[in-house]
This record gives sequence, structure tokens and C-alpha cells, in this order.
Amino acid sequence: MAEASVIVEGHPIGTISPRLYGHFAEHLGTCCYGGLWVGAGGPFADVEGFRADVVAALHDLPVPLLRWPGGCYADHYHWRDGIGAPASRPVTLGMSLGIGSSDSNALGTHEFLRLCELLGAEAYLAANVGTGSLQELCDWIQYVNGTVDTSLTRERAANGRPNPWGVRLWGIGNESWDCGGRYDPVAYALEYRRWATMIRHVDPGAELVAVGLEDDSLPESNLDPEWNAKLLGALGPAVDLVDHLSIHRYWIRGGPEVDFGERDYYALLEEADGTERLIERTARTIAAMTKTSHPIGIALDEWGVWHPEARTWGPGNVERRQPPTFEQANTLRDALAAGIAFEGFHRQCRSLTMANLAQVVNVLQAVVVTDGSACMKTPTYHALSMHRPHIGAEALPVVVAAEQAGPFARPGLSATASRRPGSLAVTVINREYERTVTVNIRATGRVSSSTLLTADSPNAVNDPTNPERVSPRRLTVDDTHLGRCTVQIPAHSMATIEFSTTAADRD
Ligand code: AHR
Repeated sequence: MAEASVIVEGHPIGTISPRLYGHFAEHLGTCCYGGLWVGAGGPFADVEGFRADVVAALHDLPVPLLRWPGGCYADHYHWRDGIGAPASRPVTLGMSLGIGSSDSNALGTHEFLRLCELLGAEAYLAANVGTGSLQELCDWIQYVNGTVDTSLTRERAANGRPNPWGVRLWGIGNESWDCGGRYDPVAYALEYRRWATMIRHVDPGAELVAVGLEDDSLPESNLDPEWNAKLLGALGPAVDLVDHLSIHRYWIRGGPEVDFGERDYYALLEEADGTERLIERTARTIAAMTKTSHPIGIALDEWGVWHPEARTWGPGNVERRQPPTFEQANTLRDALAAGIAFEGFHRQCRSLTMANLAQVVNVLQAVVVTDGSACMKTPTYHALSMHRPHIGAEALPVVVAAEQAGPFARPGLSATASRRPGSLAVTVINREYERTVTVNIRATGRVSSSTLLTADSPNAVNDPTNPERVSPRRLTVDDTHLGRCTVQIPAHSMATIEFSTTAADRD
């Protein structure tokens, strides 16, 4: 058995915005159609056309932010196809399973924004720069947010929504360096400057997200590692039109989705760890390229694990599913990787302004998976739900002392902490593949609850035969000393310990 200590320090790093706990719903595979949207009165119980069990699970998670309709799909999406009487909506070419699939457009603007209301989520809409026009986007923004009596706002009212939704977040394209049009950074900067200028005339309060690029893309992709610097440089004074710079991070080096061994286990956790370094490097580029006081946040608006079985590209010596459905198994290892990412998100909460796990249902690192009538919460769902106390709280620094584990010589234990009036929460991850760790935690207050996410194996999944195999359980805590407690965290596990505090504890 190994030993470790966690000391929670008192000076906050910043606030953990609920936007860091965002999700992503794309018209891809069975995420939107089949996962979220099943239509009213069909074989599955529904809430206004959305699958009721899925809505309930997501509502409880919670989902503070939801990005839609893509992804690459956004650069093909025409919002007018998805309004008005469902029967008169066009059936368009979908991207769900590549060429050959179609989109009924039954899930359109009104439906998506209603889903956000049902979930209590802020909406984040991605605009079509690839095949759409700037006028089309200006019209969409006016339709969604307009308060003046115009033909577009009358049309919205005639379609059942008199009041504007007030959507703040608008993405100007998606991966414009590749699927969004294969721009170069200077060409995209010129496009962005024009689009952002005209959008602000329609809605001065819109928060705009420019397409950035991670600086360490796969070498074979031939993408420009200097994209962010060139884009921000080419914008010149118009850099003030950027509120957030989007980057994506998929972890792809963890070997098979389920049948991985010890080295692959650590390789995935190592990649998850590297997400924070990507955020830090991007923040440095933004700081170097922007001399104005206008802050530009980082929008990590797609992140998570993308296993080789669910993609046609990149490393991974396994059989790929054909055609790709973008569906993949979700193990306890994936849940721990998500927890590691959140440690970094909390530490970087002053520069990271949003993050969207890809994707919310059925696709990639989904939190909910449907299989016929079954609706399962994945291990990743439970990892996120155990982070609930951190949402909107103040991130606190932690000092961890732990033995090294695995081939990458990293500490075998990591942690994050936050506080809000009356409580403090610590989430600890035992990354050790095989060893239990006894952890001494020093934090203010009295232990009020403690939860453990574990399983007999890091390869464990929740499936219809055993949907609760990986699910939170109570953790025994030795807390005989005020301000100190000891817990035993089994190998490959995550624990959240909450403390109740008083005003005196804060000082
Ligand atoms: O999330 C799946 C796809 O990954 C998105 O459509 C795209 O933005 C990214 O490449």
C-alpha cells in the first residue's frame, strides 16, 4: 500500500465557471437523433420529443452549457431547414454515418433551445461559415435574440416563441483549418473580422468564438502549428472582436477502448494530463499576441477520449468499426481521465472560459448511452456528477505528495479542491493501476460526505447486463481530527470528500 498527502491551501485561484462543465450535441451518429430526440408519442417516453430518461439523467448531472449543432456538421447546417411545421421541413443530407444518411430537421432551433431550458443549460450555437452566408447568420441571430418587431421576430412568434431566447455564445465556424473550409489563418482572420463586425451590428452583446487550433496536431495532418498566432496577428486591432478562441483536444493514444493493459492505461491518463499544458501554451500565445485590455478566453469546446474503434484516423492497432458510428465503450479509465482534465481546468480557470465534453449522448465520451429501452449512465457521467460541488465554486490550490506510478514517472495521486460559503470539496484520483493509497488530507472543516467511484478493474464498463458496475458508493473516512482526515483510495479510483465549514474556517 502506498501513502500520500493532500494539503488544501487557502488563496483561491479563481472561480470555476459553470461553463467549464459544458457538453456538446452534434447531429452525428445517434447523439441528436435517437439519443436526445425521439419525437413525441413514439415507443420511448418523451418530454416534448426528447427522450425522457435521457433528459432526466442530464438534468441531474447537471449540464450547464450545451453546444449545437456541430462540430463539422455546423458548417453544413442551415437553420431555416429546422423551423416551422415539422412536416414541411426539408430532409437534408446528414453527416451521421457519412454520405447516405439524412436529417429530417425535426430537431431544429426551437427544439434545441427548449432542450436547453429543460436542462437548465446555457445554449452555445455554432454558425455555418463553410456553406452558409453571413446574412444567414445575422438572420439566425435576429430570429433567436431579436427584440424589435421585424418579420423575423414575427416569424419566431408565429412558430410559437414570442420572446427572444437571448443566446450569448456564437461560434464562427468550426475547425475552419480543416472540415470547416480548409482556410489558412490569414484568410480565416479576414473572414472572421467581417463576420464579427456585422454580427455585432445585429447583436452587440453576442459573445463570439473564433476558431483556433491546438499547436501540437498530428504531424501527418500538415496543420499550421502557428495558426493561433497568425490568426490573432492578422486580426490586428480587430482582435477585440474575439471573446473566446476555440481549441479541441481528443485523447487518442490509449490503445483499445476496453481491452487495454497497464501501459495503455497510463498512456491515456498521461494524455489527459497534457490537456492542461495545451491550455497553458494557448494562453501564452494569446497573451503574446494581444496587447489590448480586451480579454480573450480559451474555449476548449470539444474534448475527451476518442478511441480507435470509433475513428478511421490516427494511432491504435485495433479493428475500426465500419462504417464508423462514433460510438465507443466508456470504462472507468475514461472517467479517471475526465477527472484529470478537470484538475487542469480548475487550475487554469482564469484563462479557460469554457469546455465542452464531446459528446453528450451515445457518441464519443458520452455521459449517457442508450441501447433500445435501456438508458445507462457511463462511468464518465459519475465522474462528472462527483464534481458537482466544484461547479461555480472558487478553485483552491492543492499540494500533493505522492509516490510515482507508471511508465511516465508521474505522481500516483492527484487532487483538486474548491470552496463556496459553508463548504469545501476535495476530489482525489488514485491513478495507481494496482495499489491502494492511504491519503492524508488537510483541509478546513468537518467531513460532511464522501463518495468513491471505483470498480474491480479500470476496464470496467456499465452495460445493459450490469448498468451499475461503475457507480458512486460511500467512502469511509477517518476524520477524528478537525481539519484533517485519512482515506483509503483503492487503485484506479476517484473520491470526492466534502467538508462543512464556518466563516472562521475561511480565515
Ligand atoms: O466530435 C466529432 C468531430 O470532431 C466534430 O464534428 C469535429 O469538430 C471534430 O473533428
